[in-house]
Amino acid sequence: MRRKLAAGNWKMNGLQGNLTELDALAQGFGDADCDILICPPATLIHRAALASGDTIAIGGQDCHAVETGAHTGDISAQMLKDAGASYVILGHSERREDHNESDTDVRQKARAAIDAGLKAVICCGESLEEREANNTLDIIGGQLAGSIPDQVTAENLIVAYEPIWAIGTGKVPTLDQIGEVHDFIRDRLVRRFGDGVGLSTRILYGGSVKPSNAAEIFGVSNVDGALVGGASLKAEDFGQIITALASA
Ligand code: PGA
Repeated sequence: MRRKLAAGNWKMNGLQGNLTELDALAQGFGDADCDILICPPATLIHRAALASGDTIAIGGQDCHAVETGAHTGDISAQMLKDAGASYVILGHSERREDHNESDTDVRQKARAAIDAGLKAVICCGESLEEREANNTLDIIGGQLAGSIPDQVTAENLIVAYEPIWAIGTGKVPTLDQIGEVHDFIRDRLVRRFGDGVGLSTRILYGGSVKPSNAAEIFGVSNVDGALVGGASLKAEDFGQIITALASA
């Protein structure tokens, strides 16, 4: 059985005062029957990790591919781990777009993350043009092949399917569209890594997940949780998503 995961990506949002949201989550949902992950901005990781104790895992939103060196402004996987993170999001479409990250970059970062003892949440997703041209599965297949390193296990790999056109837009694919892509990702993981890793790796859906649509999305086959942006900033909203996931 795959343990469900509710992951929140705060993106470039959050000052120290916002850690009260994390406290509220830890108090209200610490014993929920699913894993909970919050990825705050890097400046808050250390304090968030101290505040959340064992109940909520803390993650980074990116890492560099090497451990140390002359890379001004970057953060290594080892540093995230040292600050208290146990996960890192990699290859988010905003990173791919804003920082020209390629599948090869993502794969190298994922290898570094795994070497540092982090779990890698590797993102994939098609643009609207790619979907309308019927290229969704080709795009996802290429991203998976290029972005996931060989040395993954079901513990240190999480795949997040995030259609770019659904992120922050309030638009969500149909349940059939989500199911088609998640089944495809499952099939690709099984073919590449075998049943052991392939069937046990968690696949998250992301893109405009809200309290109002979470339950139906969590009912889709091979959806093992969500990667949530905007609705993860408020404990009240994210809490409802956690509750929907835990009872799915
Ligand atoms: P959203 O973002 O929930 O605000 O659409 C999702 C994401 O980018 O992870």
